[in-house]
Amino acid sequence: MARHLITSALPYINGIKHLGNMVGSMLPADVYSRYLRQRGHDVLYICATDEHGTPAELAAKEKGLPVAEFCAQAHDAQKAVYDGFALAFDHFGRSSSQENVEITQHFARKLNENGFIEERAIRQVYSPTDGRFLPDRYVEGTCPHCGYDKARGDQCENCTRVLDPTDLVNPRSAISGSTDLEVRETKHLFLLQSKLQHEVEQWVAAHEEQWPHLSSSIARKWLTEGLHDRAITRDLDWGVPVPADTWPELAAEGKVFYVWFDAPVEYLGATKEWADVDPSDRDWKSWWYEADETVRYTQFMAKDNVPFHTVMFPATQLGVREPWKKVDVVKAFNWLTYYGGKFSTSQRRGVFTDQALEILPADYWRYFLIANAPESDDSSFTWEHFTATVNKDLADTLGNFVNRVLSFSKKRFGEEVPAGGEAGEAEARLGEQIAALLAEYETQMEALQFRKAAAALRALWSAGNSYLEEKAPWLEIKTDKDGAALTLRTAMNLIHLYAIVSEPFIPASSRAMREAFRLDGDTAAWVSAEEARALAFLPVGTPFTVPPVLFAKLTEDDLEAYKERFGGE
Ligand code: 2FM
Ligand code: ZN
Repeated sequence: MARHLITSALPYINGIKHLGNMVGSMLPADVYSRYLRQRGHDVLYICATDEHGTPAELAAKEKGLPVAEFCAQAHDAQKAVYDGFALAFDHFGRSSSQENVEITQHFARKLNENGFIEERAIRQVYSPTDGRFLPDRYVEGTCPHCGYDKARGDQCENCTRVLDPTDLVNPRSAISGSTDLEVRETKHLFLLQSKLQHEVEQWVAAHEEQWPHLSSSIARKWLTEGLHDRAITRDLDWGVPVPADTWPELAAEGKVFYVWFDAPVEYLGATKEWADVDPSDRDWKSWWYEADETVRYTQFMAKDNVPFHTVMFPATQLGVREPWKKVDVVKAFNWLTYYGGKFSTSQRRGVFTDQALEILPADYWRYFLIANAPESDDSSFTWEHFTATVNKDLADTLGNFVNRVLSFSKKRFGEEVPAGGEAGEAEARLGEQIAALLAEYETQMEALQFRKAAAALRALWSAGNSYLEEKAPWLEIKTDKDGAALTLRTAMNLIHLYAIVSEPFIPASSRAMREAFRLDGDTAAWVSAEEARALAFLPVGTPFTVPPVLFAKLTEDDLEAYKERFGGE
C-alpha cells in the first residue's frame, strides 16, 4: 500500500468553470483517486479555489460585492457544482485561508534568508483617476504583437503572448476606463529565479522520465528560454500580505503577493486546512514535510499550467531550502475545444459545468469527458459526438445489458440469482477475456492513460454483450433451462464486476448496480484476476431487484435542443 497525494490545479474563483476545465484537471484526478482508493491505497485528494489576483477583484467589482464576500459565495457555488459531479475531494479549500497566508509568508521569509528575494524599484502603470497602481488585468489596451484591442495587461487572449501592462498600446484602466495613465516608480519583491536555473534543471532531469511527454517538453522549453527573475508582489487590496516583520516598508504600503506565488502553496495550505478540521487524527506535514518515499505525489492540470508546476513552483520549493515534498508525476492535458473553437469563460462560449448538470446527471459527463480526454492532442466536444457516445456506450452497451439480464431472469427464475449448471467452456473463455481486459484497464490507469483505461472499461462491457449474444438465454431457455440459468447467473456476476470496475468513471451508476443486489456502501474493494476469471461473486439465491434504466437514450430531438441552446459549429 502506497500513500498517494493527489492535487488538481486550483480553479480560479471568478466564475463557474466549463467542461474543458473539468476534463483537464479535477475530473481525471478524481477518477484516479477513486481507483487508487478502491485498490486499497491511502489517498489524499486536495483541491481549492484560487482566490487572489486581479480576476477575483474585477469579478467582485462587476457583482458589486466586497471581494471577501464575493469569494465566499463563489467558492460555495463552485463546490456545489463539484459535489454534483461527485468529485470526492478529501478537502476543497480556499487559497485565501489563514493556513495559506502563514505558509506563503513562511516560504517568502525563507527565500529571503537564502538570498533568493530582492527588493527592486520598477516602473508601473498608475492611474490618477483611480488613485492607484494598475497591475496585470487592471490595464487593457491593444496588443503590441497582434493588434487585438482588448488585450489585458498580463496576457493577450488573442495571441496568448504574456504581456506587461506597460507593453500595451493605447492603454486604459479596466476600473474607470480612464486613459489618463502615467508610469510611476514603485518597489516590489523579485524572486531571483535566474539563480535557481541550474538546480531546477537538475531536478527536472531527475524527474521528467516519470512525466508524460507533454509535461516534460513544456518544462524543457521554459528551461531553454531561461528562468528570469520575477516580481512576486502586487499593489492590490486582496491577497496574501507581505509580512511586516521582514519587509515593513512594503507591508505598510499594503503590498500583497502575486497570485501565482501563493496559489501553488495552497496545495500545502489546503492540506493543513484539511488537518485543522481534525488535528488529533490528521497530520498534514506527514504528506508534505520530510515525507518518506511511500508518498507519491501526482498533479493534474491543463498544459498552460505546466510551466508553473514543473519549473517555477519547484524553483520556489528548492530556494526555500527545506525538505518540502515535490511533485513526482505531472499529468498534463491539451485543450478540449467546442466544435474546434476555444471554450471561453469570459465570452461564455461552450458548456459550463452547472449547465451540464441541469441537462443530464454527472455520470454521462464523467464517462464522455474521460473517454475523450484531450490527452495526446486537443479533442473537440460536439453534441453529435456526445449523444452518440452516450447512446452507444452507456445506454446500449452497459445500461441495456444490466436491464436485459435482470428483467429476463426475474421473469423466468424470480428475483434471486438462479442456480443452473456448472460453468462450461464459454464461461472459461469469458473469464480469460475478462481477466485480460481487467489487467489492461489496470495498466492504463496506473500509467495515467485515461482514454485507454476508458477503452478497456468499454471492452469489458462489450465482452458481456458478446457472451449474452453467443449464449442467447432467451432461446436456450426453450431447450436447456439449467443452461439458461447458468448464462444469467454468469451475466449477473458480470454486472457485479462492472459495478466495481466502473466506479471511478460512473460512481452513481455503480452504486445503482450494487444496490440491485442489495450491496451498499460507497465503494467496493477492487477485483483480483482470479475473481475476474471465476465470475462467482454472487452466491446462488442472492436476492436482486431490477434497477430503473441506468442511462436514458438521447433522441434526435434532444440533440437539436442542445444545439439550439448552446450553439453548434
Ligand atoms: O490556471 C488556473 O486556472 C490557475 N488558477 C491554476 C492554479 S494551480 C495552482 F498552482 F494553484
Ligand atoms: Zn496579441
